[in-house]
Parts: sequence; structure tokens; C-alpha cells
Amino acid sequence: MVAPMENELQKTFLDTTDIPDIQTYFVNQAFEFQELMMMYSCAIREMRTKLEVLNDELSIHHKRNPIEFITSRVKKPLSIVEKLHRYGVPVSVESVEQNLNDVAGVRVICSFIDDIYTVADMLLRQDDITLIKKKDYIEHPKDNGYRSLHLIVEIPVFFSNQKKNIRVEVQIRTIAMDFWASVDHQLKYKQDIDDLENADELSEELRNCADIIAQTDRRMQAIKDKIYSGNVIPQT
Ligand code: GTP
Ligand code: MG
Repeated sequence: MVAPMENELQKTFLDTTDIPDIQTYFVNQAFEFQELMMMYSCAIREMRTKLEVLNDELSIHHKRNPIEFITSRVKKPLSIVEKLHRYGVPVSVESVEQNLNDVAGVRVICSFIDDIYTVADMLLRQDDITLIKKKDYIEHPKDNGYRSLHLIVEIPVFFSNQKKNIRVEVQIRTIAMDFWASVDHQLKYKQDIDDLENADELSEELRNCADIIAQTDRRMQAIKDKIYSGNVIPQT
């Protein structure tokens, strides 16, 4: 029986036959690639555990959970190959490690803006985590209205005969920002396929929604600050 990863690789191989050197690469490097993907998925597990530990501890101390939920994914082989080609770099295991920051992706959804920074600070204070890059799209939103805090970090994972520092992209945002990003993503995806007639109008409308959402996030934060001021802990 063929393992699921091999199926995925075969699909990638078939989908990219028009790109030179990919065929040979996947035939020769399939095992190394599979091993690399396993390592990224282990790094995700380590990162999720760290976040869950923080959430559990904070929920005991403050009687509320700063993290609503966590999602994660390992980038699909086809997307990896496409991105390497877009960057004009070689398609190899070493090249993936050197050039891509988002093969392992973890998304952390918080209720309130201050929770985002609390979680990020606590994570970055841990002495086994190395910050590679931080992008604060909350402080400096993108032109389209996108807001989130992005951290590219390296996290050590221990395997049978080596310790490997593995890169993980952590996106931290509020529920409202996440709602917006998912609709924005759908618009981009649709635009590619259908070439929507009123795309400009929709982008403008989405931008307006981003501003309203940001304002609502700030108002919700102010309400939360009032609820929790003076250490008044709500009844559960
Ligand atoms: P890539 O966009 O991943 O090639 O890298 P980059 O260096 O531009 O990083 P950036 O931090 O801008 O974006 C990384 C990821 O954040 C993306 O892959 C998306 O998941 C998310 N992201 C960034 N901008 C947007 C946006 O405008 N809308 C949505 N929905 N997601 C975004
Ligand atoms: Mg980008």
C-alpha cells in the first residue's frame, strides 16, 4: 500500500511535470522530502503544546482563556515547489529549509488584542525559542486592511540522533481579524478563478469592514479592561 505522503508526492510530481528538474528531484529525493515534512509536523506539535501550556496556566491565574483556538498546517508539497520556483531558488530539501519560513504554520486565535501580545511575549521569552522575524500588521495594517501579528521563530526538536532547529510561522490574531482574513482569502481565491467583475468594489468594501472590525476590537478591549479592572473576576 502506498503511504499518504507518497500519494501526495506522486500528485505533486504529476502536477509539475512541466517544470524542469522536478521529476528527477522527486524520484531521487522523495524520502528526504518526506523526512523533512515529518520534522515540520513535529515542530508544529511542539509549538502547539507550548501554546496550550500557556493557555492552561493563564486560565488558572486569570479565570479566562487568552487563546480561543489554535489551527495548524504543514504546507502542501505542490505549494512548496511553486513558492521555490517563484523565489527562483533550487528545489531541494536544503533550499526549503533555507528559503521558506512558512512550511510549518500555526495560527493562534485570541478574543482580545492584548491577549495577542501577552501570548507573543510569553512565547518569545522562552529560552529555547529564537525569533527570526516579527511583523506587526496590527500596529501597521496592510493596505488592504489585513491585521495580524506574525512571528517567524525557530524551535528545537529532538530526534533519535540529532537536535534540529525548525522554523515555524506563528500568526496571532483576534477572532474578528480571523473572520476578515478568511473572507479576504476567499475573495483572492475567487478572483483568480472567475475574474470577478466587481473585484475593486469588493476590495474597497472589505477594506471598510477591516476598519470597522479594528474599531470593534478596540471597543471590545475597552469593555474587557473595565470588566477586569480592580481584579474583579466574573462568576463562572
Ligand atoms: P508570503 O506572502 O507567505 O509569501 O510571505 P511574506 O513574506 O509576504 O509574509 P507575510 O507575513 O506578508 O504573509 C505571510 C502569510 O500571512 C500569508 O501566507 C497569509 O497566510 C497571511 N497573509 C498575509 N497577508 C494577507 C492578506 O492580505 N490577507 C490574508 N487573508 N492573509 C494574509
Ligand atoms: Mg505575502
